[in-house]
Amino acid sequence: MAQLDVIVGVQHGDEGKGKVTHSLLSEGDYTHCIRYNGGCNAGHTIYHEGQKFVTHHIPAGVFFGVKSIIGPGCVVDIRKFLHEIKILKEGGIHVEDKIFIAKNAHLITEKHLWSDSGETAIGTTRTGNGPCYTEKYSRDGLRAQDDERLAPFLVDMYEEFYFKHPDAIVLCEGAQGFSLDIDWGDYPYVTSSHCTTAGALLNGFPPQSIRKVYGVAKAYETYVGAKTFQPPGRTFELIQGAGDEYGATTGRARQCNWINLFQLQRALSMNGVTDLIVNKIDVLEHVGHWAAYVGKTAEAAQMTFQNKEQFCDYIQHYFKHINVIFSSSPERI
Ligand code: IMP
Ligand code: MG
Repeated sequence: MAQLDVIVGVQHGDEGKGKVTHSLLSEGDYTHCIRYNGGCNAGHTIYHEGQKFVTHHIPAGVFFGVKSIIGPGCVVDIRKFLHEIKILKEGGIHVEDKIFIAKNAHLITEKHLWSDSGETAIGTTRTGNGPCYTEKYSRDGLRAQDDERLAPFLVDMYEEFYFKHPDAIVLCEGAQGFSLDIDWGDYPYVTSSHCTTAGALLNGFPPQSIRKVYGVAKAYETYVGAKTFQPPGRTFELIQGAGDEYGATTGRARQCNWINLFQLQRALSMNGVTDLIVNKIDVLEHVGHWAAYVGKTAEAAQMTFQNKEQFCDYIQHYFKHINVIFSSSPERI
């Protein structure tokens, strides 16, 4: 049976999952890396050997010569997929025989792009994701195996993990985050896929195959979309600037707010998180303000802290059964 480690976003996406994936892969234990949800709505920013890459479709395994698969829970825009391969090649990354797409992943078409254009009600990334999943579930979609251009990249997940590589060690890379999950997020301000640990199992793995679940959060929260999320105040503008909080896919400004530990607890519990990485501590350090929502109603229970040590201690105590790692670097955990 394959063994899985799962990386899952526990806020609204953009938590720094790409960095965590890259860092875990560099330790060299994995035979495969699988993206398990979403499409080119995601933008993973990765620093590899001094170069910055932004990937939308292709899992970070490719940077280390690890077999990288776009899983069946994903939707693929072929043009963007092929373009991404080109960019990686130009950046000196070896892509031959490393990039695969599950036969049963779905394809984004012109029609999907068209329906997802203009001002969408919830402020989507306009990359055709919602309409593609809609068609998948109305059983009218196109799959990767239906397009000739993808023939060299196709993989059958059953063959791969039950016959060819039954002892695979797989890093499953999530996109978006718990608060954008189609079932557990703030509906309708959500994406169309399963952003949870359960999404990783939908690649055709049994639940027993999971070893570790790495939850990824930021020291503050960000959200991109149509609802109002950022409270008034100069501090949040400072955080937005210091954290360079602009979408990797759309360039839109991300709204900022304090970290919400009460909401985070729900995400950690439901995803079975074993290790929590809290990124961008350096941003709050730069801004010099430390706060968190800690109770059921946000306004009722906002706590402020004097410094980084108080802030980090409080979080570690709040989640006392989880290993919490605080990160201050865009390149390392
Ligand atoms: P969609 O996934 O493009 O349909 O967009 C639905 C909602 O999810 C919008 O609020 C998007 O801004 C948000 N979203 C989708 N993908 C990402 C992501 O990778 N990071 C942050 N927000 C995202
Ligand atoms: Mg992103």
